[in-house]
Amino acid sequence: MAIRTIVKKGDETLRKRSREVTEITPKILQLLDDMKETLEDANGAGLAAPQVGVLRRIALVNAGDGVLEIINPVILEMEGEQIEAEGCLSIPGVYGEVKRPMRVVVEALDREGVKQRYDATEFKARAFCHEIDHLDGILFEDKVIRFVDLEDEGE
Ligand code: CO
Repeated sequence: MAIRTIVKKGDETLRKRSREVTEITPKILQLLDDMKETLEDANGAGLAAPQVGVLRRIALVNAGDGVLEIINPVILEMEGEQIEAEGCLSIPGVYGEVKRPMRVVVEALDREGVKQRYDATEFKARAFCHEIDHLDGILFEDKVIRFVDLEDEGE
């Protein structure tokens, strides 16, 4: 495994649409392993493949209960809304309130190529939405209602 460099805002990779994964090759598995190590090193809640410079529809979500690997994720259902502050490993030091659904149902392939369904609420629902946005070249700050200063709160 290896820690990969996280692409920062301004790099055009972050603005492109990522392509579907058609086959889970050893290279994809290596990418997943490297992304996991990179996410843990950065202590983040999620990481999408374009953030390490790879335009594939792959992301990791860690809402505090372990790392989920999602490949070709699709949001099947959205319900309710929530407004909370978010940040992004590609936009360090910037936080802002974003409106997201309170609950999402996401379908995605796991690393074995098996379709899984995730029913997530609150923070986890936000994390799914944030990472899936990355796969379409959307950054959280595009959706910010109000920027906030979380630095003083030690986050
Ligand atoms: Co992000």
